[in-house]
Amino acid sequence: MKLPLLLLTASLACLALAEETKDAPAPTTDRVGFPAGYQKSFQVLRTVKHEKEGKVVTVYGNAAAASITNVTQLPYPYGSVIVMETALLPKDGTGKPEVAGMHVMRREKGFGAAYEANRSGEWEYTEYHADGSYITPPAKSATCSACHIKAGKEKDFVYQARLGGTGK
Ligand code: HEC
Repeated sequence: MKLPLLLLTASLACLALAEETKDAPAPTTDRVGFPAGYQKSFQVLRTVKHEKEGKVVTVYGNAAAASITNVTQLPYPYGSVIVMETALLPKDGTGKPEVAGMHVMRREKGFGAAYEANRSGEWEYTEYHADGSYITPPAKSATCSACHIKAGKEKDFVYQARLGGTGK
């Protein structure tokens, strides 16, 4: 009960925040990088199917990110990359879900400074289409960082990944 409520509160608060942070300071270059081949080379940390909305959300982590299985191990090691993929379920119920986009965050030493007041630890953020083009380029990613502040320093600004839900 507690977690969904927390997430809902965070989402509502961040809707207002998104408007405020649209043009806030952010990195000008992409130091996150499109995670080519992540479906094969990363581990699945969490999957949630939203039947009603016709989509499935899958969170992947590279080896560094996947090494975190318990809050006592935080923060995430430098080099951690977490991908949150949204795929649309086929309308006729057959065939494979089609990737609509992916949110990506990477943690490296000194990352995140460009977000200034909206910094969430040492993470930088971008959002890509499946072909690697931008949905949210680095320069517009202050919104991401500002909302992830609310995940809290004690979770290293990562809402769930492997640590939320069932822990699997
Ligand atoms: C309105 C608040 C909000 C904004 C804005 C936001 N996020 Fe998140 N993000 C969340 C929440 C809440 C979750 C957890 C979702 C879940 O697991 O069901 C999440 C999950 C993630 C995850 C998976 C790891 C985790 O924290 O559980 C990644 C990666 C991610 N977001 C990247 C981004 C990127 C990149 C952007 C900007 C393009 C962004 N986020 C913008 C709230 C936000």
